[in-house]
Amino acid sequence: MNPAELKMTMNRLFGASDDPVSVYFSPGRVNLIGEHTDYNGGYVFPCALTFGTYLLVRINGSRIVRFATTNFDHRGEVNLNEPFEREGKSWINYPVGVLNEFRKLALEVEGMDLLYSGDIPNGAGLSSSASIEMATAFAMNDLYRFGMDRMSLARLSQRAENLFVGVNCGIMDQFASGLGLKDHALFLNCDTLEYERVPFRLEGMKIVIANTNKRRGLADSKYNERRAQCEAAVEALRRGKSIRNLSDLTMEEFEKHAQLIPDEVVLKRARHVISENSRTLAAVDALNKSDIATFGELMYQSHHSLRDDYEVTGRELDTLVEEAAKIDGTVGSRMTGAGFGGCTVSIVAENAVEDFIRDVGAGYAEKTALQADFYVAEIGDGSKRMEP
Ligand code: GLA
Repeated sequence: MNPAELKMTMNRLFGASDDPVSVYFSPGRVNLIGEHTDYNGGYVFPCALTFGTYLLVRINGSRIVRFATTNFDHRGEVNLNEPFEREGKSWINYPVGVLNEFRKLALEVEGMDLLYSGDIPNGAGLSSSASIEMATAFAMNDLYRFGMDRMSLARLSQRAENLFVGVNCGIMDQFASGLGLKDHALFLNCDTLEYERVPFRLEGMKIVIANTNKRRGLADSKYNERRAQCEAAVEALRRGKSIRNLSDLTMEEFEKHAQLIPDEVVLKRARHVISENSRTLAAVDALNKSDIATFGELMYQSHHSLRDDYEVTGRELDTLVEEAAKIDGTVGSRMTGAGFGGCTVSIVAENAVEDFIRDVGAGYAEKTALQADFYVAEIGDGSKRMEP
């Protein structure tokens, strides 16, 4: 990010002004393990990335909030004297949804010019949308001294996405974007919202993200369908056991009560969630003992469960993981995020990263006729204000 250049863009798009500009940043995330567990009250283990969304804010003295981004041509505005309306599938729904949630709490803002600039690949499943929401929420909270803590801002951003954008996501992405810490992964219990920041600095290892570059068509409706199947599983299990959510069950308890679920597909969905929860616990335990081999093995198991039981991987993600496993120096690999395209995350020995990128890229291109992109990820901090 070049702040001087972004300020020039701001002057060009919104008109030149010497009024002060505040600059904020909120990162994207990669989830190391614990997938499709957050909305089931389970554990997740994501970390914040060093790339994300920058936000420049300038008060404009009017009752209009204007939105622009360097990522798309599309711009928009809302009038603070009127109710906020959702605008089709526009990216503007993310920040407007956040302003709408503040408004519900009677936390009002002034007319502003907001310029967003993201360096996360769009639609890659690395939470560019959560980073836009959290950048907005964090900036408003800071500028207007609303006094909310980061967790409350993450929950507010999740509500914006659920209620205004219309995607029924869990808390993981907004949480990771808001509460990330450099060189630490975040171990979150999504039921109690208790969390721990676990050092994740592996000597001689790198986190490599590979983007399938597959368009994630229909991903939102399939995501909501998985959520509904989990709810159906809870309802069926409640006929024989009192539970609040799927994560209340251990694998042993689940196997004992599995016959309560008549639908074969619903049964598989529940098995993924419950097994993934125990894998996440085991992975954090392995990491605390510096047992990276076990951590990697659990990543592969997670992928297989997402492929066979949760059925959210697809040929592209499966191919990336299969090709990754062929490389000497890959410790573990799995899809990350919602699935249906998007990215994989792999832990790779530093001296094998070059081979990894070359050979996985070539194997993937040959099998899918698509080009993958690779990013060697650094774990960064959560939402922050930057020097203008
Ligand atoms: C998306 C959602 C998250 C989470 C993951 C799957 O990223 O936004 O809340 O459910 O999918 O683990």
